[in-house]
Amino acid sequence: ATRKIAVLVGSLRKDSFTRRLAKNLMLLAPPTLELEIVDISQLPMYNQDDETDTPPPTWTEFRGRIHDADGILFCTPEYNRSLPAVLKNAIDVGSRPYGQAAWSGKPCAVVSNSPGALGGFGANHAVRQCLVFLNMPCMQAPEAYIGGIATKLDGDRLTDDGLRAFLQQFMECFATWVERHAD
Ligand code: FNR
Repeated sequence: ATRKIAVLVGSLRKDSFTRRLAKNLMLLAPPTLELEIVDISQLPMYNQDDETDTPPPTWTEFRGRIHDADGILFCTPEYNRSLPAVLKNAIDVGSRPYGQAAWSGKPCAVVSNSPGALGGFGANHAVRQCLVFLNMPCMQAPEAYIGGIATKLDGDRLTDDGLRAFLQQFMECFATWVERHAD
C-alpha cells in the first residue's frame, strides 16, 4: 500500500531553497510514498474568535488534508533561530479545535536548511518542540540540517551528489518510519 505524505514548506518565497529542496526530497522518495505539497500560504493568522461553526474555509480544507495524510514531512528554513511564522501558523491552525488536532499520532520528519553553515538547526528543533505537544511520532534519526544550500542547487536541480545520496537515504528511513506508525 502507498502512504500519503503531506509536505509542508515553511517559506512563501518564489525561489525558496526550502521548496526546491522539498521537491528533491519528493523525487528521491521510494515509490511507497505519495507526496504532495500542501499549501499554507492562504491560511489566515490563527484567531480563536474565528473558531466558530463556520471557520475560514481555508482552515477547514487544510485540516482535512492533514487528517487525510498518513504522515507529514516538515521542510523549513530558519528565521531568527526558530521556525518561520507561516509554518507555526499552519501548525496552530491544524491543532484546533481543541481535542480535534489533525496532527495527532501522524508520523513525521523534519528537514531544515539554510544558506548558512548551521543548516537551520534552531528551526528544526523549534518544530520538534511543537511535535511533542501534538503527540506526533517524529523520526529522530537520521537528522537533516542542510547547510550551504545555495551552493548545492542549480535551479531545481541538486548539484551535490553526497547530499542527494543522503536525502535518498533519509526518505527511505522516513518510509520505514511511516510504515511502522501507520494505522
Ligand atoms: C533569515 N535567515 C536566517 N538564516 C539562518 O540560517 N538562521 C537564521 O536565524 C535566519 N534568520 C532569518 C530571519 C529572517 C526574517 C529572514 C527573512 C531570513 C536567512 C534565510 O536562511 C534565507 O533567507 C533563506 O533563503 C530562507 O529560506 P528560503 O526562503 O530560501 O526557503
